Amino acid sequence: MTWLAPRPGGRYCDATVGLAGHARAILERSGPDGRLIGIDRDPDALAQARVELEPFGERVTLVHARFSQARDVLERLQMIPVDGFLVDLGVSSPQLDRPERGFSFRHDGPLDMRMDPASGESAADLLRRVDETELARIIRDFGEERHAARVARAIADARRAGPIDTTGKLAAVVARALPRHEPGKNPATRTFQALRIAVNEELEEIDRFLSVAADCLRPGGRLCVIAFHSLEDRIVKRRFRTLAGRDGGGPAVLRILTKHVVVPTDAERHRNPRSRSARLRAAERL
Ligand SMILES: C[S@@+](CC[C@H](N)C(=O)[O-])C[C@H]1O[C@@H](n2cnc3c(N)ncnc32)[C@H](O)[C@@H]1O
Repeated sequence: MTWLAPRPGGRYCDATVGLAGHARAILERSGPDGRLIGIDRDPDALAQARVELEPFGERVTLVHARFSQARDVLERLQMIPVDGFLVDLGVSSPQLDRPERGFSFRHDGPLDMRMDPASGESAADLLRRVDETELARIIRDFGEERHAARVARAIADARRAGPIDTTGKLAAVVARALPRHEPGKNPATRTFQALRIAVNEELEEIDRFLSVAADCLRPGGRLCVIAFHSLEDRIVKRRFRTLAGRDGGGPAVLRILTKHVVVPTDAERHRNPRSRSARLRAAERL
C-alpha cells in the first residue's frame, strides 16, 4: 500500500484480485468513492472475491480475464486512465491447497494446474503431448532444474506404461529420477513449478501485461508488481528498465521508485510464511 499509495477517489486495477486481501486494503484507503477493477483468470477466486468485496458495493467491478488483457478490459469499462495497478503474481493459497486443482505434490489430485480450468491444456495433457527434448527444455527453463534431462527421460519412460495424470504419480516419477534430494525441499518442486508456468503461459503473461500497463496509467499513477521467483522478477526488472528509458529502450514512460527490490520484513515472513519469496518493484508513470 505504501508504494501503490491509493488515495480517495482514485481508480485502481488489481489485476490478480485472488481472495481480495489487497483489493480490500485499496478500497479502504481509496474510500469513500474510489473505484476498483479486479481481474482474475480463476473463476473460483473471482467468486470468493465477490463475497469478500460485497460491502463495497458499486465501487467494485470484477472481471474474468487474463491480466495481459487488462487494457481491453479497462477500455471496455471506460476506466482508462487508472491511478494504479497492482499485480501479485503466481498462485493463490486455495489453488495450492485444493487437491482437485492439481497444483501441489503435497496432495494427490488430477494433474491439472490450470488457473482457469475452463481454458487451455492441463498439465497431464501437456505431458502427453510434448516430446522428451521439449519437456527437458520446459523443466530446465521454467523450473531451473539442473537435472532436467534426467527428469524428462524418467517422465518419457513412465508415460509409456500409462498416463501420468495425477500429482502423486508425477511426484513419484520425479523422486525416483533424482539422485540426491536437497534437504527440506520436495524433489518435485522445480518440475511442478516448470509445468505450472508452461501450462498457464505465466512468463508471456507478465511480458504482455507490462507492454500495455504504462499506457493505461495516469501521469503519476503507480505500477506495483510482486514476483515470487527469479524468472518472474527478472522479467519485471528488465521491463521496468526499458520502460524507464534505460538499456536501449525507447523514450522513458516510467520512473522506477524501488531502487532495490522490496522484500518482506522478518515479522511479515514469520506471520505469513508464504510471503517469504515475495519481491516487490514499483514505478510511476511520467
Ligand atoms: C498470489 S494470488 C493473488 C492474491 C491477492 N493479491 C489477494 O490479496 O488475495 C495470484 C492470483 O492471480 C491470478 N492470476 C495469475 N496469473 C494471472 C493472469 N495471467 N491473469 C489473471 N489472473 C492471474 C491467480 O488465479 C491468483 O488468483
